[in-house]
Amino acid sequence: MERNVQQSKASTSRRSFLRKGLAVGGAGAIGAGLLANGLPAFAEERSGGLTAGDAAILRFLAAIEIIETDLWQQYNELGGIQDGSPGYTAALQVLDVDMPQYIHDNTEDEISHFTFINAYLVSKGADPVNLDQFRTLQGSQATGAQKDKKRLTNLMQLTVDTSWWTRYRSRTKNPDFGDTFAQAIPGLSTGQFPAIPRTDDDLKGFVPGTPPTIPDHLQAIANTAGFHFGFIEQGGTSLYPSLAQGVTHPEVLRILLSIGPTETMHFQTWHDKAGNAPALTDPTNGLVFPNLNASPFGGEDFQTNLIMPEPTIFLSRKFPVVSIIRPTEPGGSGGAVATVKAFADDGLFIGQPKEFLAVLNDLAEQADKARHGS
Ligand SMILES: [Fe+2]
Repeated sequence: MERNVQQSKASTSRRSFLRKGLAVGGAGAIGAGLLANGLPAFAEERSGGLTAGDAAILRFLAAIEIIETDLWQQYNELGGIQDGSPGYTAALQVLDVDMPQYIHDNTEDEISHFTFINAYLVSKGADPVNLDQFRTLQGSQATGAQKDKKRLTNLMQLTVDTSWWTRYRSRTKNPDFGDTFAQAIPGLSTGQFPAIPRTDDDLKGFVPGTPPTIPDHLQAIANTAGFHFGFIEQGGTSLYPSLAQGVTHPEVLRILLSIGPTETMHFQTWHDKAGNAPALTDPTNGLVFPNLNASPFGGEDFQTNLIMPEPTIFLSRKFPVVSIIRPTEPGGSGGAVATVKAFADDGLFIGQPKEFLAVLNDLAEQADKARHGS
């Protein structure tokens, strides 16, 4: 009994932090320098006491964290511990009963990341990042979503790259060596699929109860979210170590080394949960979630309980294999430019003007260009 009370208190305090965090995010119209005359004006940007490289790295990370926050908030509204969507939440809970708490906490973490990085930039006299002018997309109209809230990201037409699944199971390949990896869910990597209910139509056939009745279409949406969570957080897992190698100031390095591993903690959690996505075919669009433990899947490349990074080649084939985050090469497939491309390929920015991608790419190029001491 006491335990329950404590848990619920903890939830309340995290909830209130989230609201506060949201308010701070909404009121943070402090990026006046980012888009002078509606165009990126990075040459004129202030980097304060930071090196230009450190400021560029932090600014790109702030932008990515703002984007992550936007997408996690959409998941949180429908599948977090708040009221949300009972049907979508029940389908997510097939992957793990604690999914609503994890979704809520991941959201809170991303809010704290961008808020901290922007505050740090300001403390050094450097310009922070604000992407509010690009909050133009209409989000989910399903019950539970903040229907009128404009979004930066689109979670309703996703093409999810699920090769992170096999990348972390390979003992012989590493993307930093140019290797490529099979898709865990081939169907998700082509076509466009919702990861949240778009309207209440996507919840048709859901019957609450113990156990609830969850139609395959609704479960497919939750399964898509489950693999998308892993895709997003494996990106952060590689991005921070990739960019850390270009940092100059020890305190900025400390920021990257302290935030980056929380992305990895998220990734590890989502990696584990995605493996619980039930095998099914979405009758509305034919999307197949195969049984990853059975033929032609299965084995070391797919087995669902192999969630720790298998040792693989690193730096040079002459060294013994080692369990590592991969990729981590500066400017490589886990770097800033590659992250923007991966997010765009994912469908997150469908509906955004080209200018949005141009702004992100400019920020990314500056970050990838940063070199220690520059
Ligand atoms: Fe983050």
